[in-house]
Amino acid sequence: MIEGMKIRKAVIPAAGIGSRLLPLTKAIPKEMLPVGDKPVIEHTVRELVASGITDITIVVSGGKHVIQDHFRPNPALVEQLRADGKTAYADAVAEVGELSRLGHITYLDQHGPYGNGTPVLNAARSMGDEPMLVLWPDDVFVAEIPRAQQLIDAYERTGAPVLALMPMDPGDSQRYGVPVVTDDQGDGLLRITGLREKPKPEDAPSNFAAIGGYVVTPGIIAELRRQTDEWYSHRTGEVYLTDAINVHAADNPVFGQVIRGRWYDTGNPADYLVAQFASALAHPDYGPALRSLAGELG
Ligand code: G1P
Repeated sequence: MIEGMKIRKAVIPAAGIGSRLLPLTKAIPKEMLPVGDKPVIEHTVRELVASGITDITIVVSGGKHVIQDHFRPNPALVEQLRADGKTAYADAVAEVGELSRLGHITYLDQHGPYGNGTPVLNAARSMGDEPMLVLWPDDVFVAEIPRAQQLIDAYERTGAPVLALMPMDPGDSQRYGVPVVTDDQGDGLLRITGLREKPKPEDAPSNFAAIGGYVVTPGIIAELRRQTDEWYSHRTGEVYLTDAINVHAADNPVFGQVIRGRWYDTGNPADYLVAQFASALAHPDYGPALRSLAGELG
């Protein structure tokens, strides 16, 4: 195992159908819905680039080509906008294309058993057995230190897998993976010995939610591979990252890092509206006017 290596790679699973946001996501991938003035997935990519990640794999499925179209550099459009004197638009379009280069974004078709472990294993096969970040593209963070960087820092401190955690209202346990926490190491770093997927409140082992960010190590990839091989032998069940982490955590060190910052979940209609509202209010150009409008309407 090569635990202890520097993290340069990240995977963003983006093959899901976004069922909780239907019918909004019938034709538009949920990753492309706007939060503030950017699609959700651009927030994730910017966070990774700002955290020094130089290889991003986005795992997609049919109908997701607009993600690729969004990030693909378009020099002809930039040139046209410049020729028309639309400098600000030209700069904005050029900046998005530049993310592709900085993050060296590549795309991979998801294939394999149902479950969120499959895109991680798909990406790991082509990225080699290195520790890597996995970020679901439905969480947006407003944080002084990006969430991805906080996870990398925790990994550098421990050399072990790390889960992004946030304090959770106990009534929300059936929406999240909930860690078994055994030890507080200071600065929000917690030792984890298990992870339960969406337990009832009375069965929840702690008041923390695993939100969509993980440092996945070769040990966890090996467990995902084992579960996938088993699926191909029996063709039943599903392959979940939570299960692989849970098995790995029983015999190996695993940590949780409570993320410092504000977290917006964009994966369901109610929280998505909150994310849109909050980011609009926080926008440096549009925020002040919207704030006074909110006051008038409220
Ligand atoms: C997934 C994970 C769950 C985690 C959640 C965070 O669930 O399986 O452990 O807490 O993401 O967003 P999903 O929301 O895809 O059902």
